[in-house]
Amino acid sequence: MIRGPRARLAVLLSGRGSNFEAIADAIDAGSIPHAEIVAVISDTPAAAGLEAARRRGLPAFLIDRSRHSSRQAHEREIVRVLDEAATDLVCLAGYMRILSPEFVARDRGRILNIHPSLLPRFPGLHPQKQALDAGESESGCTVHFVDEGTDTGPPVLAARVPILPADTVESLSARILEAEHRLYPAAIARVLEGLREGSGDAHSDVHRNRGK
Ligand code: GRF
Repeated sequence: MIRGPRARLAVLLSGRGSNFEAIADAIDAGSIPHAEIVAVISDTPAAAGLEAARRRGLPAFLIDRSRHSSRQAHEREIVRVLDEAATDLVCLAGYMRILSPEFVARDRGRILNIHPSLLPRFPGLHPQKQALDAGESESGCTVHFVDEGTDTGPPVLAARVPILPADTVESLSARILEAEHRLYPAAIARVLEGLREGSGDAHSDVHRNRGK
């Protein structure tokens, strides 16, 4: 369920923030209808995405992981911000910390992540290099619900890109990133549609809608 007229999104990031910017652009362009970003949270002060959020006039929060004694304490602070912002959906966009099972359980079906491979192939770190090393002829990106595992939750949407013979990690990563910027907004729009249908369980909505 979504409580208000506009879905309230939080974006969690640790770095560049290009996916965050793609989501914000898609909202501005109306391609994620009836949605707004109500919190951009970074766990590191160096994240360029944090500065981009400030430039856009969006509520930006630095919750510095190095200033908290444990993951639990760090997440407690994140949860406080999410609660205060009354978020409907949490979008991980280059967020480089594994969420605890307690965090996942609290918002199950309402946390998305984007990963630069065709999951379940190549979860974890350096998926572009993993795909090249495996001699694949294609790769891509996947938006999935977050569960307790690393890049293991139910997929929402995926996009394929070719791997060319001359590809390097850099060239392949750039091709995948372009696809990510289209895929993440589309996946968010789809999940919000499911949440609006009112079952309150975006997970099963997406599964039900598959193949339609
Ligand atoms: C993206 O490749 C995303 O798939 C992965 O981390 C990267 C984040 O890039 N999870 P950006 O910070 O959104 O530019």
